[in-house]
Amino acid sequence: MGKIILTGDRPTGKLHIGHYVGSLRNRIKLQNAGDYDKYYIMVADAQALTDNFDNPKKIRDNVIEVVLDYLSVGIDPKKVIIFIQSEVSALSELTCYYLNLVTLSRLLRNPTVKSEIAMRGFDNTVPSGFLNYPVSQTADITAFKANCIPVGDDQLPMIEQANEIVRKFNSIYGDVLVESEALLPENEFERRVPGIDGKAKMSKSLNNAIFLADTKEEVARKVMNMYTDPNHIKVSDPGKVEGNIVFLYLDIFAKDEHFEKYLPDYKNIDELKNKYREGGLGDVTIKKFLISILEEEFAPIREKRKYYETHIDEVYKIIEEGTKKAIEDANATLREVKNAIGINYFADDNFCKEIRSKYMQG
Ligand code: TRP
Repeated sequence: MGKIILTGDRPTGKLHIGHYVGSLRNRIKLQNAGDYDKYYIMVADAQALTDNFDNPKKIRDNVIEVVLDYLSVGIDPKKVIIFIQSEVSALSELTCYYLNLVTLSRLLRNPTVKSEIAMRGFDNTVPSGFLNYPVSQTADITAFKANCIPVGDDQLPMIEQANEIVRKFNSIYGDVLVESEALLPENEFERRVPGIDGKAKMSKSLNNAIFLADTKEEVARKVMNMYTDPNHIKVSDPGKVEGNIVFLYLDIFAKDEHFEKYLPDYKNIDELKNKYREGGLGDVTIKKFLISILEEEFAPIREKRKYYETHIDEVYKIIEEGTKKAIEDANATLREVKNAIGINYFADDNFCKEIRSKYMQG
């Protein structure tokens, strides 16, 4: 069995630097390494509806935003199948059969779902669809026989639950489904890119995000507002590097050649940190440095986005064709699943023979 990659995002907003560092960059790396048989990226609109059912316009509007983000960071539709979840009806059918294999108490135990229920204040009002989304996610994964799932560590409980369902299905109905493994971001920072306020993980809802679609000016303004060291007031004051968001970002993005280009007084990040600790290095200097680096990284992305925004028919075609392929592949698995359960009545000659021999005389 080869490698089949599948991942997805809920289209609830534009993607930001947190997504870029935590997953998009790695998706490009996977794509370019080419070491896979199939690679799917899914816009999880049906899943997004499970806690946004009362605001479908938000989901509808963001489908195209998320696809624009994919294309502008360099996801190549020739190498990756980009598709829309709700268009693949086999996923709903699979979900229906998988629901029989999961207990309510198991659903309530999923740690990610548990904390999401608390965060959204759902308590006893949690919609069944929301509680069941790990089962629908199991359908997303198994429909494509995906075995490699690049996700954040908050998704580990989903993969675990998916594999439980796969094992249960296979043990009852026969070996049809494939277990999968999560592919996690490499380091702690990639897993939890902090927002510009330094308080929490970057997130659209916390209003602390830098979006991939932000203009040069917006990025600059956000970096100028970044949390540094509140006790570093005068340039001559010694400053703290730990917990300083500008340095956290520099750690991820700054390379030695950036120093040569934009801040030649220092050779590398260690020299810069030492000077900051010692005193004599102002926040404006390090922020301007970070702005230059981010501009270098994001200008080409913005440019690509511009291209696709002005060729939106191309984008439409890409998702339409990707979705067509996804429908075919998922239908093939659905057929296997129905065969295994024995509910494939009209595609199965034996069914016809069975009822004949049972009811027809002589
Ligand atoms: N739950 C994922 C998230 O919130 C999105 C998602 C839906 C997904 N289906 C998936 C991710 C299947 C990986 C595989 O980010």
